[in-house]
Amino acid sequence: MTHIKKLSAAFAFIAIIIVGVAATTPPDEPKHKNLKVLPKDISHEDLDKVMDNFKEALGVKCNFCHAPSKDSTNHHLDFASDDKPEKNIARRMMKMTAKINKKFFSYSKNEAGEAEPVVTCITCHRGSPHPESKK
Ligand code: HEC
Ligand code: HEC
Repeated sequence: MTHIKKLSAAFAFIAIIIVGVAATTPPDEPKHKNLKVLPKDISHEDLDKVMDNFKEALGVKCNFCHAPSKDSTNHHLDFASDDKPEKNIARRMMKMTAKINKKFFSYSKNEAGEAEPVVTCITCHRGSPHPESKK
């Protein structure tokens, strides 16, 4: 009997620890798994803005850069996957664009003194994925 009492006391103790750990774990764990250029702690809202901006600038949909989910029972995109080469090209483009702004347009600042990009994806792309094409 005392044996069982001891055991249940131990379980109660473990349960308290587990609840305590769950409560102290920051609720805002990194939600995005595979960010290599954007800040890892970017909010959902800001990421959405960046992605919508890409979509508009290139005149494409999300699936232009993002591969379909490997789970064929759903029709969602696997946003963390790097299977589509366009996604990595886009990463290169992000770095290039940042470099151009830093090197040639560093005078451009907002009222808070933060760098404000002059050149963005749309500067070249103008709603097309292929700005180099003459047509
Ligand atoms: C022009 C290419 C492009 C388009 C179009 C695009 N994305 Fe992305 N997306 C990227 C790149 C590149 C990254 C990774 C950025 C990095 O490495 O910092 C990314 C990352 C993401 C992530 C984070 C995934 C993770 O867990 O790491 C989400 C979510 C996402 N995109 C959603 C969207 C949605 C929704 C759309 C359509 C509205 C969209 N994207 C359109 C290029 C694109
Ligand atoms: C200075 C001009 C310029 C800027 C700024 C620019 N791009 Fe590009 N981008 C190009 C050119 C030119 C190509 C075509 C390159 C080629 O075909 O080899 C291209 C190609 C791409 C492609 C590949 C399209 C395909 O079908 O293969 C993606 C994706 C892309 N850009 C995304 C972006 C994103 C996202 C941004 C903003 C972060 C951006 N680009 C900013 C000039 C630019």
